[in-house]
Amino acid sequence: MPKRLYIDTVGCQMNMLDSELVVASLRQQGYELTTKPEEADTLLFNTCSVREQAENKTYSHLGVLRDLKASHPEKIIGVMGCMAQNHQKKIFQRAPYVDLVVGPGQLHQIPSLIDKVAAGEGRQIEVSLGRRDGSRVEIARSHESFDPLRDPEMRPTPFQAYVRIQIGCDKFCTYCIVPSVRGPEQGRRPEDILAETRHLADQGTVEITLVGQTVNSYRGQDAAGKSWNLADLLAAIHEIDGIRRIKFVTNYPKDMTDELLTAVRELDKVSPYLHVPAQSGSNDMLKRMKRGYTVEQYRDMMRRIREGVPGAAVSSDFIVGFCGETEAEFQMTVDLVEECRFKNSFIFKYSEREGTRGAELFLDDVPFTVKQERNNTLLEIQNRISLEDNQKQIGNTLNVLVEGISKAAAKKEDADDSPVVQLTGRTHCDRIVVFDGNRRQIGQILPVAIYDSASHTLFGEVITEECGSELFMLS
Ligand code: 5AD
Ligand code: SF4
Repeated sequence: MPKRLYIDTVGCQMNMLDSELVVASLRQQGYELTTKPEEADTLLFNTCSVREQAENKTYSHLGVLRDLKASHPEKIIGVMGCMAQNHQKKIFQRAPYVDLVVGPGQLHQIPSLIDKVAAGEGRQIEVSLGRRDGSRVEIARSHESFDPLRDPEMRPTPFQAYVRIQIGCDKFCTYCIVPSVRGPEQGRRPEDILAETRHLADQGTVEITLVGQTVNSYRGQDAAGKSWNLADLLAAIHEIDGIRRIKFVTNYPKDMTDELLTAVRELDKVSPYLHVPAQSGSNDMLKRMKRGYTVEQYRDMMRRIREGVPGAAVSSDFIVGFCGETEAEFQMTVDLVEECRFKNSFIFKYSEREGTRGAELFLDDVPFTVKQERNNTLLEIQNRISLEDNQKQIGNTLNVLVEGISKAAAKKEDADDSPVVQLTGRTHCDRIVVFDGNRRQIGQILPVAIYDSASHTLFGEVITEECGSELFMLS
């Protein structure tokens, strides 16, 4: 009987990709996926350390498994990803029934580590060197990128895929744990990225999202010794037949070059969508965060985006309640959000992370209730802006990559047999669109006429060539 694997993934796109690759490698060893922990032989948790809440959630998930492990000691429980690197042996102390702790730089070892546990060799731990535990080269080598061949069946939407172009981060923003757990920034070789993208295109992938912590800082060297940047990569990927959309996340404001903006404007397949976190609208906060730019420079970057890529959608991240943030400083963030009119913003309450410069240098002195209030205030403003901008889309026809059945339709019991269902997809600019259609249209890019909007969703009707906006002939 095949062995069964349960995997729980939280966190960023990098984690989604890592989970896909780990599952693919375990499937090659004969594993099948299950969504039920109690049916699984091996249970893996791919974890996030960016905020304390994410770590607490993982510990509470692990807590639930205590009884299961007590009654089935043969089941193997593993913690992988950022929290494994961050907490290391502490995980065994808090959850003594965990068998496996594997950092993001050792994921390729998971199949052999599981075998070791199964063979009775006891608990296994594999993590990378810390940022102060060796030379840069040694530390970089201890963080290995895990990029084996891809398995489209392992993705919720086989026609969309993440492609890693960079691992690690060297920016060391004072609040952020990522440089410690994901190690030094390393660009993948351009030839490897292109080969993987060609392979994905051959498997039917139409949309590629290039991922890196600071994806636009990418530098890679090819076999001939030539240095490539992100604009070079976009141009080369643009030539790959079958790929119809190219996105990239996450951008670092300081590295948003005119050359990159020109590539976004001129290469049709590249989505006019840029996620460029600002984090704060106050220069004092940006300095404490060690973001490496001023609000004036961020504004100038926004001007260059608006002029260089007309119609581009820009989204951002903000941290509220970072150490010492005053009401006046928060107001400057509000002003920046009002001014930049982001498509959407991800807003986070500051969460102190042990081991960061922020935790060493500054006091986490903004009360939780104030963080909560500021979070709500900023979210409300952003939602209003998102709604206003979405309303401007009413009457437009947008090309939508159909991603699947909408959440609402998936919940309905009869969703499985009716030919017409509510579908969801995304525009080139990354706007979510919901419309009625046929499940056979999943994976296609279709023109959809927008007739209504909410702050984060557009509502539309598929346009057919013969009779304009029509639904039922599509079955
Ligand atoms: N607390 C709150 N938010 C954080 N982020 C990173 N570190 C922290 C932290 N310690 C946010 C940043 C980043 C996003 C991925 O998570 O806004 O852009
Ligand atoms: Fe963290 Fe800053 Fe690197 Fe982003 S750029 S991963 S926020 S250290």
